[in-house]
Amino acid sequence: MVDLNNPEALSAMDSTGYFAALAELGTQCRNAYMLGRETRVPAVADLSTVVVTGLGGSAIGGDLLRVYCQERLRVPVTVNRDYTLPAFVGKKTLVFAVSYSGNTEETLSAYQQAREKGATIVALTSGGKLAALAAADGVPVIRVPAGLAPRAATGYLFIPMLAVLEGLGMLDGIEAEVEELARELAHYATTYGLGSPVAQNPAKQLALNFKGRLPIIWGASGTTEVVAQRWKGQINENAKAPAYWNAFPELNHNEIVGFEEPAELIRQLWVVILRDKGDHVRVGYRMEITRRVIEGKVAGVTEVTSTGEGMLARLYSLIYLGDWASVYLAMLYGIDPGPVKVIDYLKGELAKR
Ligand code: PA5
Repeated sequence: MVDLNNPEALSAMDSTGYFAALAELGTQCRNAYMLGRETRVPAVADLSTVVVTGLGGSAIGGDLLRVYCQERLRVPVTVNRDYTLPAFVGKKTLVFAVSYSGNTEETLSAYQQAREKGATIVALTSGGKLAALAAADGVPVIRVPAGLAPRAATGYLFIPMLAVLEGLGMLDGIEAEVEELARELAHYATTYGLGSPVAQNPAKQLALNFKGRLPIIWGASGTTEVVAQRWKGQINENAKAPAYWNAFPELNHNEIVGFEEPAELIRQLWVVILRDKGDHVRVGYRMEITRRVIEGKVAGVTEVTSTGEGMLARLYSLIYLGDWASVYLAMLYGIDPGPVKVIDYLKGELAKR
């Protein structure tokens, strides 16, 4: 098993430069904000909804936008992970078509539908067919740098949408929040980074706890639910391992009952509870009580509380820990975190039909 205290050995297993991309996420967020502000998007008359259409690493930014905007935007944000768009999409909808590669078939199909429905569209991509189509259609394109794994480009695939909404006068204070976020990430890059030894590195410690076990990640509706979802996806795609997520208070009404049998399997679960100062006060009580219910049955429980002031910094303080932990878990399994051969295989097979 690789030694997590040996940075050279870890780097040797990372063929795509995932560690470097993680370490630079703060800078990526700053650059992403500028890209969004530079893009001219026409105001939508009588705007009724914002829809983000994308898949996988290109969709999670939509969930971040939805959660961030829940208490800040006067219109709802919906995330669409499909070939088709909901019936409500029309001339009063702003659609962000997001695909890092620009070649994801579901997103290209939804983009065409958005055109047919007369929605105002912004394409967010590093190139591919989406960039070409949007350019030909006169649709604004936010072009982000290529060469990263989509899920390592989360700053590029989220922050520009905030900047566009700010440019349209629908949000404010984003620049200051991004600045705080970039500072926090720079700080945590040292704490979680390759050079920080296991004894002082919560991301490496988490990876060791996850190894050989099934991670269960719990967040709270309206705040850390999106972080829980992100952790799950990152463990799946980076460590190539299963993980599951859910959110309070809903999980108190079903999932929590399922901790009786099979006892041997339950003993292999490692539960993470994600907390944030924006959680409903009664959700905080639920977390404490729920922890007592499962302790002794599962392998272990880790509670993590977000840090920072603004919501962006707080959400990313948790996302970042999960990102690093998932890459260290990959290392513990002897896996290269960047390539996702199964996704490539599926896309390749579908392209033949
Ligand atoms: O992280 C990944 O590689 C995937 O989840 C992709 O983001 C997903 O397959 C969609 O591809 P794209 O982001 O290029 O649209």
